[in-house]
Amino acid sequence: PAPGWTTAADAIVVGTGIAGLTAALELRTRVPRVLLVTKGALSSGSTVWAQGGIAAALHPDDTPDAHLTDTLAAGGGLSDPEAVRVLVTEGPDRVRELVARGTSFDVGPDGDIALTREGGHRADRIAHAGGDATGAEISRALVAQIEAVRHDPGIEVLENALVLDVLTGAPDRRSPVDVLGDTERGPGRPVAGVTLHVRGAGSRDGVGAALAPVVVLATGGIGQVFRSSTNPPGATGDGIAAALRAGAAVGDLEFVQFHPTVLWQGMGAKGQLPLISEAVRGEGALLLDVSGHRFMPAEHELAELAPRDVVAHAIVRRMAATNADHVLLDARNLGARHRGVDYLRRRFPSITARLVAQGIDWTEEPVPVAPAQHYHSGGVVTDARGRTSVPGLYAVGEVACTGVHGANRLASNSLLEGLVFAHRAARDVARQVTGSGPRRAPEPEDRPGGAALVPAAARSRVQRATSEGAGPVRSAASLERAAAVLAGVRTDAHRAPDVVADPQVAEWETTTVHQVASTLVHAALLREESRGGHFRTDFPVPDPVWRRRVTLALDDDGAL
Ligand code: SIN
Repeated sequence: PAPGWTTAADAIVVGTGIAGLTAALELRTRVPRVLLVTKGALSSGSTVWAQGGIAAALHPDDTPDAHLTDTLAAGGGLSDPEAVRVLVTEGPDRVRELVARGTSFDVGPDGDIALTREGGHRADRIAHAGGDATGAEISRALVAQIEAVRHDPGIEVLENALVLDVLTGAPDRRSPVDVLGDTERGPGRPVAGVTLHVRGAGSRDGVGAALAPVVVLATGGIGQVFRSSTNPPGATGDGIAAALRAGAAVGDLEFVQFHPTVLWQGMGAKGQLPLISEAVRGEGALLLDVSGHRFMPAEHELAELAPRDVVAHAIVRRMAATNADHVLLDARNLGARHRGVDYLRRRFPSITARLVAQGIDWTEEPVPVAPAQHYHSGGVVTDARGRTSVPGLYAVGEVACTGVHGANRLASNSLLEGLVFAHRAARDVARQVTGSGPRRAPEPEDRPGGAALVPAAARSRVQRATSEGAGPVRSAASLERAAAVLAGVRTDAHRAPDVVADPQVAEWETTTVHQVASTLVHAALLREESRGGHFRTDFPVPDPVWRRRVTLALDDDGAL
């Protein structure tokens, strides 16, 4: 629909997880007018749910090189070593800056940041806060910094503002067409701003346009594309869909990470499910099958602390072998034997409280767990400065595909990636805005090929298709079934466009979820091998031919 209101800024940041908040705080002192928008409240998003921690080589015996080695090993041969080097070398300073911004990490007896271990790490390098509430503490500190400057003229915060589309201007020969080294695509269409659907903001209510020559997408993950996930309900992949429609390239979409230990709540459990942090295994908890047999030592030399994809797939196989829909996470040894019975409650207070609410006392009994969708390793393709293939459009955090994670993200590298690359993107934006780059947004152009809106009622059909077809175990047959259901949803939407006459958040989000699901399934069908988070029964081993990224973009008619 035509925008009912218009505003303008020098840079727009979309999303308020660790990446969006960091980008906004860095930009506020560097560009004249920053607009920070979020689809919920300032403190909503996935970061607040992060339990285990943030990885960085902070211990005197650890090194960025060791962190690099572990990250590359977890990434299954697809990580970009240069992007990983940036992550691990800049990470420690960025974590220290978080402390300077008010984050209270847990400290050891010596007063230094306490460090634990998680899957795939061969050193203790996970900083945590509040025991198992790391993301909530980081978010609290960053939100407090934004609140403190909220009334400055240089920054505006717009809550309950869902991003719909990234606006672009006419192709511009002066735009940096060399972004991502892609000279084939001709002159880029530079960013002109975004359209937003805002609720409860007085004169800014409804659909409006925010114009700016720079847009930083920090919209987080895609959990809602699946029936169940550890992600909050807002994780609908908004940035991926908007970037695709603006012509940006996306990559590695098929690499979805399924967290091995999500509280099992019965068959058919839907929505956001409680995570049992990998740090619990880091502290020594064991995985048992339903007959009480410990199975991970036979799977990997790191046993329960193998990389996440290895553990998740071992669990899926074990569940099939024992004809069960869950396995058991046994943390009783932590409390009882080593550290006193109160240890679990002290070290993992949030998880303990969540388990108690479910009637589970994990100091006395093992916890039923099963893998569930947790993280998206792929996203909008960027370079090491967060720049996408659309001039002026940046992507940071989970929405981005920086090349750091490859086929499987290493535990606790997600908060770090958001932090490091948001900082870099903000510096790059500042260089452009204060240098010779565009200061005014180009005139937005109407672009053809808008997708028909998908009714909210179709969301569960989409989620079921993706979960059954593109879950932890896939095949051509399962993916083709999912693709057929998703094509059917699209056909229904085109045949009856009037069903969505007055689109609200639920319809915009369902349309986005459908678009992300369709692109992800397409990418998963193309990759005829198994690697990292992408496991296909018809191609069960890695194939050197596929040691490359699947990159996709929409053409001018909206087709892949
Ligand atoms: C966890 O606490 O297990 C999640 C950490 C992560 O996703 O890296």
